[in-house]
Amino acid sequence: MNKKVTAAITAVGGYVPEDKLTNFDLEKIVDTNDEWIRTRTGISERRILKGEGLGSSDMAAPAVIELCRKKGLDPLEIDCLICCTVTPDMVFPATANIICDKIGAKNAFGFDLQAACSGFLYGLTTGASFIESGRYKKVVVVGVDKMSSIVDYQDRATCIIFGDGAGAVLLEPNEDGEGILDSILRSDGSGSQFLHMKAGGSKKPASIETVMAREHYAYQEGQAVFKFAVKGMADVSAELLERNNLTGDDIAWLVPHQANLRIIDATANRMGLPKEKVMINIQKFGNTTAGTIPLCLWEWENQLKKGDHIVLSAFGGGFTWGATLVKWAY
Ligand code: UT7
Repeated sequence: MNKKVTAAITAVGGYVPEDKLTNFDLEKIVDTNDEWIRTRTGISERRILKGEGLGSSDMAAPAVIELCRKKGLDPLEIDCLICCTVTPDMVFPATANIICDKIGAKNAFGFDLQAACSGFLYGLTTGASFIESGRYKKVVVVGVDKMSSIVDYQDRATCIIFGDGAGAVLLEPNEDGEGILDSILRSDGSGSQFLHMKAGGSKKPASIETVMAREHYAYQEGQAVFKFAVKGMADVSAELLERNNLTGDDIAWLVPHQANLRIIDATANRMGLPKEKVMINIQKFGNTTAGTIPLCLWEWENQLKKGDHIVLSAFGGGFTWGATLVKWAY
């Protein structure tokens, strides 16, 4: 009998821009202070992609190139590239296609997937299904956002949390029971009122009026999102453990979306995980939306061991949220 094929993460790449935007820099732009930002969010600084004409693909491409280099993978071998982002280079064509062109992945098909801060989890589950079906052998999933392109630096409650960055993973077939083992994904469009961009879509196309009204920025009612995020991320992570007959003791790492340290702490507590088992880099990168989870994997890659059970967990605009159980394969 054929063994069941799962999709294993077999390589990780990442990229963050050089330029830092510290809390002290923000003090000079909006009415805020370092202490408030650190105690309310856990963030000290974020990275910002500066330079005329640079977009998300300019962070995603180096992340994928690094992944290829580490794995010894020729980009021509990539079958499919999924780019998870809310800040595409352009509304169309898909940023995935631009990334494929930049890295020379001439044999890949690519598409963008938009699920805000949960984008990477949605992309991972989608990419894993392509592998599990047997149709494709090498799928790259990139989570990337240039949040600085849609952040209103006059809105002190929102601008302080976001930053720019990209992370990427390679998915390949595995017959030893390692890889993406389970995923719970959820969405609830009624939450869109609390976190959205008012203009620039088909409902309200860009006009002089929409620009003047600052409607092309991310609009967030932070407190409302916070309440849903704490419950959503913790609930789904606990449910994932329960339905796989696991407890916090069985989990080597929690890899949470990095939106607010208080949301991360609540999720870890609910799963019965001590802080030492939680990947946290929010202090230096802030919230890079679809980039947070793969950027954690990128930073902690050397500490992950073959056979480790890890839980990836996210909550974001849409609302979208979810949790994914992974058995590390290398
Ligand atoms: O990743 C996608 C999903 N997004 C999230 O998960 C984000 C969830 N939300 C949050 O993380 C938090 O709501 C924020 C960090 C965005 C805001 O923190 P908060 O504790 O919810 O602040 P708040 O908006 O309730 O404001 C509390 C107070 C207010 O003052 P008053 O009315 O109590 O006098 C604000 O005006 O803090 C004030 N405030 C600030 N003060 C200094 C808001 N922003 C700032 C600031 N600096 N940057």
